[in-house]
Amino acid sequence: MLAVAVLALSVVSSPSPNPMTAPPRHISAPLVSPVQLSKQAQAGKELFGLRCASCHGIDLQGSQYAPSLRGVGAANVDWWVSTGRMPASTGLRIEKHQQTPMFTRAEIDSLIAYVTSVAPGGPPIPPVYPSTDTALGRQVFVTNCQSCHGAFGQGATVGYGYLAPSLLQKSITDTEIVEAVRIGPAPMPHFDQAQIDQRKLDALVHYLSIVRTQAVSKINYGGAPMDYGGPTSEGFAAWALGMLTLYGVIRVIGTND
Ligand code: HEC
Ligand code: HEC
Repeated sequence: MLAVAVLALSVVSSPSPNPMTAPPRHISAPLVSPVQLSKQAQAGKELFGLRCASCHGIDLQGSQYAPSLRGVGAANVDWWVSTGRMPASTGLRIEKHQQTPMFTRAEIDSLIAYVTSVAPGGPPIPPVYPSTDTALGRQVFVTNCQSCHGAFGQGATVGYGYLAPSLLQKSITDTEIVEAVRIGPAPMPHFDQAQIDQRKLDALVHYLSIVRTQAVSKINYGGAPMDYGGPTSEGFAAWALGMLTLYGVIRVIGTND
């Protein structure tokens, strides 16, 4: 992780040519030529060569533009690609957001097959089991996630220019949530079984699916959410209301002479 941070720093500090337009650099001989790739992994290798190798290297060794993918594991590849964060459009470590993925499910599976057969290791895609324990889920959320993602999961800035995105976006899936929890896309920490065991994780996913459904369909059981505009618009509304009231009071008690 330190290596990634150092790499990211060096990438930011040296203005480097855009890898998408830069001439192809020399690619060293494949590290894993003895590995017999399955048909699926072979398809993944071709896709990887087209879309990922310019930054991550065909041998997953990384480059000045991007970290090594050796041993990152299925959950990492799945999360970064299916949230649409990868393939990145620049090698700079700028914030990447949830967006429509570029690949189909089968293509993502083939990329995972390639990366994990060339360099095994790392977390597998974590399972999610149905849960109905809303109270436990809320407790897990409040203890571990609220400090960054906000009291309702609406998202918040977390310093150093990072944003903890809203967890109320319609497009976020249950699997993406458990993957994020287990891999911890920096600066988000990762949580292992000892911190959040399977039962708590399932409850957390259940709780988040409830708040997400409520937010998406704008159901609200209390307060005045003001179209989920967040604390800035709420604060402005409170200020404007206060000033108007004050103005009214001054008009009533004030005299003109
Ligand atoms: C233009 C350069 C670029 C391209 C193309 C690209 N990536 Fe990345 N990738 C990055 C950068 C930069 C990071 C680090 C991002 C961060 O940490 O915020 C990264 C991070 C990742 C990570 C997380 C690694 C870790 O250790 O946490 C995975 C997995 C990944 N990329 C997979 C892919 C796959 C699969 C493709 C092809 C579909 C791809 N990337 C294409 C630049 C790129
Ligand atoms: C230290 C602050 C921090 C904590 C604590 C934290 N997160 Fe995050 N989280 C982030 C940041 C920052 C990102 C964005 C990472 C990126 O885009 O590379 C993120 C991203 C995510 C995403 C991806 C959302 C998307 O737009 O695709 C999910 C899901 C998520 N977090 C869930 C959780 C859950 C569940 C917990 C509690 C178990 C949690 N996070 C705890 C900071 C945090």
